[in-house]
Amino acid sequence: MPQFGEEFLSELRNRCDIVTVVSRYVNLKKSSSSFVGLCPFHNEKTPSFHVNPAKQMFYCFGCHAGGDVITFIMKSENLTYPEAVQFLADSVGLHVPKNTAIDSEISFLRKRILEMNRVAARYFHNTLMSDEGKPGLEYIKKRGLSPQSIVRFGIGYAPESWDSLVKYMHSQGYSDNDLKSAGLVSVSESKETRIFDKFRNRVMFPIIDYRNNIIGFGGRTLADDPAKYLNSPENLVFRKGENLYAINYARTNKLGALILVEGYMDVIALHQAGFNAAVATLGTALTPNQARLMKRFTDKIIICYDSDAAGKNATRRAIEILKNVDLDVKVVTVTGGKDPDEFIKAYGAEKFRELLDGSSNDIEYKLGEIGFKYNMDIDSEKAACVREYLAVISGIKSRVEREVYTDRIARETGLTKENLTAELENIIRKKAIEEKKTEEKKIYSELSGGKAGTGFRTKKNIAVSRAEGDVISLILNFPQKIEQIEKLISPDDFITDFNRRVYTVLCEKLKENPSGEPHLMLSSLFEPDEVGILMGYIMEVGALSVDGDEIAAVAERLKAEKKKKDASAGISDANFQKYLEDLKKKGK
Ligand code: UTP
Ligand code: MN
Repeated sequence: MPQFGEEFLSELRNRCDIVTVVSRYVNLKKSSSSFVGLCPFHNEKTPSFHVNPAKQMFYCFGCHAGGDVITFIMKSENLTYPEAVQFLADSVGLHVPKNTAIDSEISFLRKRILEMNRVAARYFHNTLMSDEGKPGLEYIKKRGLSPQSIVRFGIGYAPESWDSLVKYMHSQGYSDNDLKSAGLVSVSESKETRIFDKFRNRVMFPIIDYRNNIIGFGGRTLADDPAKYLNSPENLVFRKGENLYAINYARTNKLGALILVEGYMDVIALHQAGFNAAVATLGTALTPNQARLMKRFTDKIIICYDSDAAGKNATRRAIEILKNVDLDVKVVTVTGGKDPDEFIKAYGAEKFRELLDGSSNDIEYKLGEIGFKYNMDIDSEKAACVREYLAVISGIKSRVEREVYTDRIARETGLTKENLTAELENIIRKKAIEEKKTEEKKIYSELSGGKAGTGFRTKKNIAVSRAEGDVISLILNFPQKIEQIEKLISPDDFITDFNRRVYTVLCEKLKENPSGEPHLMLSSLFEPDEVGILMGYIMEVGALSVDGDEIAAVAERLKAEKKKKDASAGISDANFQKYLEDLKKKGK
């Protein structure tokens, strides 16, 4: 992360009071020493989002988002750290001083990659239009793309050759290293100095971000290559999980929604048929970052994934992710075609419009999927079906809405409304108790290193994360005691990778800048989610149990926990097995 000068940052913070900034997004009410409101980062009915003007920090006790004013803007506006700094500076008319040498080197390289992508895109497109591009042009004509679409989406062709792009780029003054950093070439495994065209005999789709930068490519093979689509590798400018295909066009559309589809060709077919609200992920499942990106442009998403089993699974997962950032979700099922591309070809735009009009909301979609699975003439199946129905309905926040669906199920199953409602209330009550329990556990276990893969979800580990959290909380609350702390605690005393890293980084930073306020350094040192975890240490773990005179006691507790951990590292721990399984699931 690029570093801005401390002086500049403190000037920025002075001018961007956190209460003022957050108030533009959240309706805040004063409550004793802080301000409280409904959290903008998760769905809630009772406010658990706190802003502390004295510390200039925010924290949500519900979803554990937290940080300073910069973290807040990063999360709200979906910006990187330097972008958020720029955003805040602009809002108060503050000039951002030019950054360090490293930073300008990175921004130079970023610009160069974007420029190379543009040159390469033009080359691919020109090739498509030349004799050499015949196979490509024939293919996409066969797929029904109009000349306008070809131009609009900058479609191109990478010829069947090992070095035609390499040669062309050389002629334009780009070096092998340039090409490698842009991911336009592959490196020969035997001779590492040899590079060759990454995309060969493929129709090329430039991927353009919402600022109109060409950040990468997707290429569809014309041969029988097992990799049907090949995407640029991640690099300085291309992050698959943070971008959406065609968002540059779809961000402004008349539909007032975004249509989420699976593939590049689906997007183009829809745009060509007049539905310019279509976007697609870039060869991976939908990510929370992509959901946040959509949220910047709209409140409504219509999912229109493939009609196969994989598409249905993906739909279910996408619904959850989109709901989590408070987007309204509807689902369109294309029947009579594998995907939207095929549907449009078979039935035309008018029929697709009808599908959109008849799209069901996420609840209806889920209920429909469940109803489909069971045979209601068999009692045991009917019972199972009702159980699943009620599980879905119990997740609806509005009482009225719940009643509507309960009525519907009563009609469908012939069960009485009273019985269904009683059962439903039962489920909701149980769920609430369950949620409270897991919530408590989550604070300590889930994120205290869960990311680094060492957070065991067991009682024992709660004690460990608590001890580690206390240490970090000590530093954040009492940075002037850092020397004492370092004397008693070494990074080796930590068992959680994440906490160890935080400890090491904070000690280092405080040495560089002994008078710095560590809780305000966090946003420049860690990712927003990580900052939230650390705020949790201050607000929930440490603040309650730690004060500045307790350093020795905290150190002892940490070492004791570490010892227990070492001693219990045998195989007898039944939880260990479960933990491994969890890890495996998470790893994929
Ligand atoms: P599909 O396999 O559904 O392809 O992949 P499609 O859109 O129907 O492709 P056509 O119509 O045969 O051309 C959907 C998306 O998944 C990603 C691509 O982004 C593709 O558009 N994908 C698929 C890959 O990244 N790699 C692959 O090998 C296949
Ligand atoms: Mn397709």
